[in-house]
Order: sequence, then structure tokens, then C-alpha cells
Amino acid sequence: MAITLVTGGAGFIGSNLVERLVERGETVRVLDDFSTGNAENLAGLAGRVTVHRGDIRNLDEMRPIIAGANYVVHLAASTSVARSVSDPLTCNSVNITGTLNVLLAARDAGVKRVIFAASAAAYGDHPQLPRVETQEPCPLSPYALSKVAGEYYCRLFWKLYGLETVALRFFNIFGPRQNPDSPYSGVLSTFISSYLRGKTPAIFGDGEQSRDFTFVANVVDATLRAVAAPEAAGRVINVGTGVPHTLNQTVALLNKVLGREVTPKYSPARAGDVRYSHAKIDLARSLLGYEPSVDFEEGLRRTIEWQRAAFI
Ligand code: NAD
Ligand code: UD1
Repeated sequence: MAITLVTGGAGFIGSNLVERLVERGETVRVLDDFSTGNAENLAGLAGRVTVHRGDIRNLDEMRPIIAGANYVVHLAASTSVARSVSDPLTCNSVNITGTLNVLLAARDAGVKRVIFAASAAAYGDHPQLPRVETQEPCPLSPYALSKVAGEYYCRLFWKLYGLETVALRFFNIFGPRQNPDSPYSGVLSTFISSYLRGKTPAIFGDGEQSRDFTFVANVVDATLRAVAAPEAAGRVINVGTGVPHTLNQTVALLNKVLGREVTPKYSPARAGDVRYSHAKIDLARSLLGYEPSVDFEEGLRRTIEWQRAAFI
């Protein structure tokens, strides 16, 4: 039976992935420092997952945890664009040095394949839309740069050492277990929390920026496919839906779904923010057989249901 190590497995995407792996009867280890992840996220899986508290910046600490693993899904990161602008050093050490450590430990442990959580932030403000993998990266923030560096390290480890790596450029992911309670939280968790608590959602900028909001189950599916797809090694692959929504459209949709007439408040745009973002997903279709199965509105309904039960 294959053993999969999930770094960042106590986080939002990580815990959704770990749950699916356990449901499939697989052996799963988690490595997480619980900086933004939460033990609650794995509470339903107690006894079925081995959880190691540790920091990917510490290579020696990581080696025994990776030993014997067949696959690594590397999700641990400092994930906020805004935080990276105010604290680029932490972003650099966790996302670049930490990723290099994971690759070194995986290489030395004879891991079969590493899946890396790359980001659509890599595209920055490149004029071509939708985003296609052949575009030149244009990072606008330390976070975006760190994710591009991670991709290049992945490719190098494939070319230099024969370690199979796949970099998945996740677009904006949302869904159950995304934490809405931090200033760095993803926008949809924050908006939904505002609606449910009777507060006014805040839009940074004019609200015409777009994102390819992708429900977490779609991402879990793409990730599991990337572990197994023979042609995926050494590649960078978009994972989104191909459908953009502006923040203004998103508020209108939340008003419809929740039967409200909320008007957001507008404040200045964030430094380092990307303006437009949506994915071309042809490569994921052809290499992974990926097709997003949960659309935006259905994903919003499931997320609202979860946030209502978990936080209100
Ligand atoms: P998250 O913050 O919920 O998960 C990150 C996890 O990594 C947390 O559990 C955190 O405790 C852990 N972690 C952070 N620093 C660590 C360290 N030094 N050592 C060990 N563990 C550490 O965020 P998420 O949204 O689940 O993101 C998962 C991955 O996907 C990240 O790499 C992120 O950059 C990437 N990604 C996310 C999105 C999105 O929209 N959520 C989009 C593109 C890429
Ligand atoms: C998000 C992810 C990042 C990922 C990237 C891929 C988080 C925290 N960030 O970054 O890890 O790599 O997608 O595309 O998960 N906004 C508001 N009001 C708010 C919060 C945000 O208007 O209360 C705006 C932001 O200024 C931005 C947009 O909403 O224009 C999205 O912000 P955010 O959810 O932080 O995501 P990204 O920066 O796109």
C-alpha cells in the first residue's frame, strides 16, 4: 500500500485532500507546523492519519518523516499575497527554502513523485487571458515570486536528479475548512463570514478584479490525478475552472444565494494584487483527464452551509 506524505495537511486544501486519501483507504502522514492549519481540520480522522508537528524549514527534522513515503503532496506554505508584501522574509524562507528542503528530503528518501502547490499568482498582470502555462511568469508579489521559484526547483529536481515532480498552478480555491478569521484569509471565506455575521463585506479596489474561483473538491480531484498521471512528470499545469468572476459579480451572486441586498464597502486596492485571473485548463484535461465537477454557485452553497455550521 502506497504511503503519501501531505505537507500542510492540517490546512484548508490539505485537510480536504487527506480526508479523500483516507476514504480511499490509503496510508497518510501529515507534516504541519500549525501556523495557519488547525488540529480541528483533522479531528474526524483521528487514529487514521499520522500527524507530525514540524517545520519544513528544518531539513533534518523532515528526513525521518519522509522516510518510506512513496508520494509527497507539498502544500505547506505561507499563502497570503498581502502577508508576503509586508513580510517577504518569512515568505522566502517557508516557500523557497522550505520547498527546496522538501525536494531534497524526497530525493534522498527515494520518493516516487512530488506534487507541488504552485499558484496562478505566477501570471501576475501578463496581458494574455485566459492564463496558459506557456506564458512567461510575471510575479507581482514576493509570494508569486516564491511560487515561481518552487516550480523551477521542481523542474530542476526532475531534470538533474530524476525526481518526478508536478507543479499544479492552483487558481483561487474555496470551500469547507478555509479559515475566514484572519486578515490574510481568502476573500470568499471572508465575504461569507461577513454575510453570516451581518457585517458589510469589504472590497479592496473597484471590485472589477476577477478570479477563477475553484471549489476545493475539484482541486483534490486534480491533485489525486496528478499523483498517478504518467505524462505529468516535470510539468506545470493550471488547475482552475476556466470561468472568471469579478468581486462585484460575486457579491451579486451571494446576494442571490442568500436572499440579501448587501452593498459592499470599497477601500483602496492592495499592493501586489493581480487584476484579472482565469485559467485555460486544456493541459489539465489532456494530461490529467481533469474536469471541474462542482461549479461556482454549487461550491458557494456548500461553503455557506459549512461556515454556518462551523462558525455561527
Ligand atoms: P492553509 O494556510 O490553510 O494551508 C497551509 C498549511 O501549511 C497550514 O496548515 C500551515 O499550518 C502549514 N504551514 C505553513 N508554514 C509551514 C511550515 N513552515 N512548516 C510546516 N507547515 C507549514 O492554505 P491553503 O489555502 O490550504 O494552501 C495550501 C497550498 O496551496 C499552499 O501552498 C498555497 O500557497 C497553495 N495555493 C492555495 C490557493 C488558494 O486559493 N487557497 C491557490 C493557489 C495555491
Ligand atoms: C489567492 C490565495 C493564494 C493563491 C492565489 C492564486 C489565499 C489567502 N490566497 O490569492 O494563496 O496562490 O489566490 O490565484 O488563499 N479582497 C477583497 N476583500 C477581502 C479580501 C480580499 O476585496 O476581504 C480582494 C483582494 O484584494 C484580491 C481578491 O479579493 O483582489 C482575492 O484576494 P485573496 O482571496 O487574498 O486571493 P489572491 O490574492 O488572489
